[in-house]
Amino acid sequence: MNTPSNLQNDVFLRALQCQPVPYTPVWMMRQAGRYLPEYRATRARAGSFLQLCQTPELACEVTLQPLARFPLDAAILFSDILTIPHAMGLGLQFETGEGPVIQRPVRNAADVSKLGVPDPHQELRYVMDAVSLIRRELHGRVPLIGFAGSPWTVATYCVEGGSSRDFARIKGMMYDDPASLHGLLHILTQATIQYLNAQIEAGVQAVMVFDTWGSVLTPACYREFSLQYMEQIVAGTKRQAEGRTVPRILFTKGAGPLLAEMAKLDCEALGVDWMTDLAQARQWVGDRKALQGNLDPCVLYAQPGRIREEVARVLASFGHGHGHVFNLGHGIHPAIPPEHAAAMIQAVHELSPQYHSL
Ligand code: CP3
Repeated sequence: MNTPSNLQNDVFLRALQCQPVPYTPVWMMRQAGRYLPEYRATRARAGSFLQLCQTPELACEVTLQPLARFPLDAAILFSDILTIPHAMGLGLQFETGEGPVIQRPVRNAADVSKLGVPDPHQELRYVMDAVSLIRRELHGRVPLIGFAGSPWTVATYCVEGGSSRDFARIKGMMYDDPASLHGLLHILTQATIQYLNAQIEAGVQAVMVFDTWGSVLTPACYREFSLQYMEQIVAGTKRQAEGRTVPRILFTKGAGPLLAEMAKLDCEALGVDWMTDLAQARQWVGDRKALQGNLDPCVLYAQPGRIREEVARVLASFGHGHGHVFNLGHGIHPAIPPEHAAAMIQAVHELSPQYHSL
């Protein structure tokens, strides 16, 4: 069993708890992904994206790929938020160029009544096996982040049957048949709590909940259909493992002023997308929570000199203090040259110590 002293770099875990750190830690959402040629090669070997997720040795390999290239301060489990609907038997496929497809969407009370909470040690065992393997192969170099989707965000895929532009079906269900939607969200919440706790037991050292689509809701609906369930998740996940706090990060893309309400939840950190200034986010949130973000992912299309300027701007917008984890405001795009990601990481490590001096 690993003990806290085995971790060589805990800057990320400390920053998430607003504890003193010598520099701002950095990782990237989707850091293992298609912008890396070595990822594309492993994915081709796996045959499909789902096969890659379900083969622990390959999931471990791609998790470690960005760490072999860049001095990142955290690793993130390679998996997907749609493993839960997959484990619930809804039939998941990833069509090339089309994104995810759910073959048996959930659209009414009868569909909801057929659903059960998957056992994370059975149907999702491959994820736990990947976590154990990654922890072993990391040798304590940096902490490992586990994750899940928010119930609302996962429900959008379950109800729409895939990605959506207007969320017409799930919003129709929300306004016409809220009881059925709450039934689905309740099951997804129970599944997510068990899933995250199993990831923590298997060795993840922080967890992040991705609420990619929370901001398509009105503020009132956001509270009722997304925030409420994230609150249940933070209340239900383990706080401690291996003698350390397991920080919980909540990320609603497009949250804006709703960050003030998210800040009332019992989590350690909030993700911030690029559309909100970190100085403003800090005002809304106060010093109770760490903030993670928020470089516009499109900055990485620019040349390294410009990337450095924009990194400096993000660091300055957070300003002095310890509770900042540098990240992109959303996932890295597949067409980004890896050297540009390297320039961003280097700039964060070189420019941030001034914000952590006394
Ligand atoms: O951050 C990481 O490096 C960890 C891996 C990770 C993936 N998906 C791998 C992935 C994480 C954290 C996710 C989360 C996820 N998955 C979210 C929430 C975060 C976000 O990006 O908003 C969502 C909405 C999904 C659902 C999903 N998975 C979609 C819509 C797609 C297709 C769109 C696309 O980018 O192609 C995926 C596929 C997916 N998940 C890929 C990766 C690397 C690309 C698959 C491939 O190799 O073709």
